[in-house]
Amino acid sequence: DKPRLLEGKKIIVTAGGTIERIDPVRYITNDSSGKMGIAIAKVARDMGAEVTLVAGHIDVTPPKGIHVIPVQSAQNMYDAIMELWEDTDVLIKAAAVADYRPRNAVDQKMKKSGDTMTLELVKTVDILEQLGQMKKSQFLIGFAAETNDVETYTREKLVRKNCDLMVANDVSTEGAGFRSDTNIVQIHDKNGLVEQLPMLSKEEVAYRLLTIMAERLCGVHS
Ligand code: PMT
Repeated sequence: DKPRLLEGKKIIVTAGGTIERIDPVRYITNDSSGKMGIAIAKVARDMGAEVTLVAGHIDVTPPKGIHVIPVQSAQNMYDAIMELWEDTDVLIKAAAVADYRPRNAVDQKMKKSGDTMTLELVKTVDILEQLGQMKKSQFLIGFAAETNDVETYTREKLVRKNCDLMVANDVSTEGAGFRSDTNIVQIHDKNGLVEQLPMLSKEEVAYRLLTIMAERLCGVHS
């Protein structure tokens, strides 16, 4: 049984990949299965939190006892979070959000014509960066999916997105990142590395992360 360190806390967890429409039958997405975010949602529930899961495309069924809001695009995910934002204590962004979307999603199926075609992409809203600018008392945790220079990029994202913690996974490593049941992460704060964890189940990663978060959250509010 987990200690109920998060009793009464309202936590939003995002999971899965966003879907950016090209036309009614085609879209751009990524390899996120939702496992990491769902593990966090489940453990946060077990630690007493009131959990809302904002889920893009996911391959696993969310557990009982959490409120699930299904979304498609980065914009939908942003809008869903904004509905709850004022009344949120913690936001954990384990979702893999598309950085670009097709400029014009069309209502009718696109027809095959020339030998090549060009799809123009435009930037999506950076949800975490926006919320980092807006945050008041909320505790913000981001994830950084990297393949190289993990520490440098993680620190850059932590600062730019004004996060309290940033969890880095080297997604080029076997047993870490997308789709696997395990992950290998480093947890950073604005002063540097907080903890380097070995390969653990995503649920154990979630538990370690939430324990660090709970200590800091209580510290802030006491
Ligand atoms: O779902 P799984 O198969 O279990 O895989 C887990 C995971 C690898 C997807 C997860 O552990 C992870 O790393 N999630 C973050 C992936 C990601 O989008 O990383 P990023 O480095 O591109 O983004 C950094 C942070 O900014 C993330 O918290 C992301 O949610 C957020 N972001 C990114 C772009 C954007 N437009 N808006 C955002 O909020």
